[in-house]
Amino acid sequence: MADDKLFSPLKIKNFSLKNRIGVAPMTRVSSPGDSIPRKDVLEFLVRRAQNEVALVYTEAIVTDYESAQGYPNQSRLLTRRQIDAWRPVVSAIQDAGSVAVMQMFHCGRMAWPEINPAGRVIAPSPVTAKQDNPLTGQPYTVPDEMSCFDIEHVINGFVETAKGAVEAGFDGVEIHGAHGYLINQFLSAYSNKRSDDYGGSDENRFRFAKEIIRAVKPVIPDDRLLFFRISNWGVADAAVSLFESKEQWQQMIHYLDAEPLDAISVSCMNYQDNAFGTDLNMAQLTREVTEKPMIVCGNIFDRASADDALKDADIVLSGKSLLLNPDWVADIRENKPLKPRTGAEADVAYTAHPLP
Ligand SMILES: Cc1cc2nc3c(=O)[nH]c(=O)nc-3n(C[C@H](O)[C@H](O)[C@H](O)COP(=O)(O)O)c2cc1C
Repeated sequence: MADDKLFSPLKIKNFSLKNRIGVAPMTRVSSPGDSIPRKDVLEFLVRRAQNEVALVYTEAIVTDYESAQGYPNQSRLLTRRQIDAWRPVVSAIQDAGSVAVMQMFHCGRMAWPEINPAGRVIAPSPVTAKQDNPLTGQPYTVPDEMSCFDIEHVINGFVETAKGAVEAGFDGVEIHGAHGYLINQFLSAYSNKRSDDYGGSDENRFRFAKEIIRAVKPVIPDDRLLFFRISNWGVADAAVSLFESKEQWQQMIHYLDAEPLDAISVSCMNYQDNAFGTDLNMAQLTREVTEKPMIVCGNIFDRASADDALKDADIVLSGKSLLLNPDWVADIRENKPLKPRTGAEADVAYTAHPLP
């Protein structure tokens, strides 16, 4: 096919992706005690690489032991044992000809104190999500407004986790600035009510993200990648538009564009949806202000949606479809009829049931 962009290689920096397909970062809550994922969870990532996925993301890795964790049994990449556990997984992904990227996050106000070793909940402002925590059935705990000490401490957690990823051999690192977690909480006026240098104007709300990017960048060797994920939706209060206008979204992308990032990943509920009352989708609005490689995700489930999403982006990610179907890439290559997968189906990710 002359226009087979989906299965054409993509050069990003010194890397050549064999196609434009990635497995989206997916949390698996399989790491009790020592913050190392279960063996079958790690093997799942290797299997996706062996089954033609060009870009393989880890689940969101928690950046510290104090307040970063949002769900039980999440992973970390800070100790020798954690780094050693990931190293063979990363090698196996690379042996399959794929690029391995570690995603790291801090959940901010989405924490529940009981599962954080230090029992803290911190956020830009003492404002909770409107909905209850679906996992506890209780309201979220009112977070402490982050002090300068907290901000420095959290940034350091991102730096140390990035160092862990580099040592484990990952090709790249992604800073998770999406889905209503801590960095997104700073970016959005919905959750950031600060009156200091980290709140108020777009530039101030971007400051925390900028400081993380600039602190992490020096520990990433020149031959590895640094990505940033952003979204206009959050896992709590999911209907809320986290940015108030097209201009506000594009301003944030404009700031990201000026940072030393190798790609911007735009996470959507549905890649097709037009945004901010315009007749453009999130990828199109993003493309208007950046020429950086762009990754898009959200309800890409078959050949037609993958081709369509790729018109406005460079890489497409699948979450639920690749979670549940190990042959997804082969299936879309053959243009098999496929259905979107539901969130309820994907909940198997959080069980001990080994995935295909
Ligand atoms: C089980 C599960 C876990 C997820 N965990 C993460 C995560 O750790 N980090 C992240 O950025 N997104 C996470 N997501 C969101 C996905 O990366 C993706 O954006 C979302 O599933 C939409 O893509 P899809 O329609 O192809 O499933 C998760 C999604 C699922 C289904």
